[in-house]
Amino acid sequence: MKLTPARRISGRLQLPGDKSISHRAALIAALASGSSEISNFSTARDCASTVACLRALGVSIEQTGQKLIVAGTRKLIAPDRPLDCGNSGSTLRILTGVLAGHDLTAELIGDESLSSRPMQRIIEPLELMGARIESTGGRAPLKVHGSDQLTPITYKLPVASAQVKSAILFAGLNATGRTTVIETSPSRDHTERLFNGFGLAVKTDQDLSVSIEGPARLSGGAITIPGDVSSAAYFVAAAMLLPGSELTIEHVGLNPTRAAFLDVLRSWGAEISVSDVASDRNEPFGTIHVRGGINRNAREQERTLSGSMIPALIDELPLLAVVGSQIDGGIQIRDARELRLKESDRLATTAKNLRAMGAAVEELEDGLIVSGPTRLRGTLVDSHFDHRIAMAFSVAALLATGETQNAGSECVAISFPEFFSLLDSLAVR
Ligand code: S3P
Repeated sequence: MKLTPARRISGRLQLPGDKSISHRAALIAALASGSSEISNFSTARDCASTVACLRALGVSIEQTGQKLIVAGTRKLIAPDRPLDCGNSGSTLRILTGVLAGHDLTAELIGDESLSSRPMQRIIEPLELMGARIESTGGRAPLKVHGSDQLTPITYKLPVASAQVKSAILFAGLNATGRTTVIETSPSRDHTERLFNGFGLAVKTDQDLSVSIEGPARLSGGAITIPGDVSSAAYFVAAAMLLPGSELTIEHVGLNPTRAAFLDVLRSWGAEISVSDVASDRNEPFGTIHVRGGINRNAREQERTLSGSMIPALIDELPLLAVVGSQIDGGIQIRDARELRLKESDRLATTAKNLRAMGAAVEELEDGLIVSGPTRLRGTLVDSHFDHRIAMAFSVAALLATGETQNAGSECVAISFPEFFSLLDSLAVR
């Protein structure tokens, strides 16, 4: 993909449904009593993986455009082939939690990137609950031997991970008694919100613990998935960095455990406002407005992203590193070693591409120090088949001098197949 600089961003749009919420809505609908209607279901390839796996487990799902009609079932059936999770960590990890609570054996596989990512983090708690999971040195393929009589656990997460938290909570639906997950830093809470929204009381405490009582069955119903705020982030960042931009994104998710990047960008001088806030099944959404141009002199403490704020920014950190290269004094990201375990080693791939575009970047074991402001220059960047790296560096390309070639950028379809066509329609060149 070849990208040329843009003068500004201009437009009003709505986005396909949020990827994280779509995975969970499909899983909840599959297990709930009655039928469910999911509108604005994500167009991400990752979410198509979840739907395909559920169908292979005997769940009836009719899809027309972005609407799904799902017939809930009490009993999943053993699949006659391996469940292919593609590139999707959420599918593999959360579905393993679901399967742990069903009396069947199933194998889960993924692509090369997914097969290199750590799975011991779900294997350990799910085995404590009574499932048996075979792996290849703590990595996929996984063979899950589930049980519909799991033992509830109280489990303190060793890493902040919404996927691990969700795997345990989904397994807890089929455990007899109270399943509790304790976090050290708050990660995205879609599972908790949707469990509540589909009829199950979820108890959350100040000490970051989340509990459910099992066995429990959710009640099917209708939901419209809000636009994906992580997809919105790329357009918001491009608009704030290009003076004269005017951007409005309607019906986009505003869950605080996901939308924290908006506060960071505001603290770096962006003019962003939010209006028309409402919610569906406890998931807040609204309209985001961005006016281009920043005052580049953010205070030093606001230019360091670290500690408990990291999980709420986790998928936006490569993009925030790109934006940081435009901020006076640059920015620092710390406590983010989890980024090394994503679809690519995002600390390494972000640093490498930013350097190729002329920015000075120091790579730390747990973060990045990005100098700024730097006039980026167009060059060859590499997506490393990581959708978020491809999109972050497409934003960088809009600011750069000259043309940027983004190798492997077709991987954006993993989360946002419409990304390049929308970017093209918004960019004024
Ligand atoms: C996700 C959780 C995060 C995030 C991923 C989606 C989810 O992963 O990076 O894109 O839907 O729960 P971790 O749970 O590994 O932090």
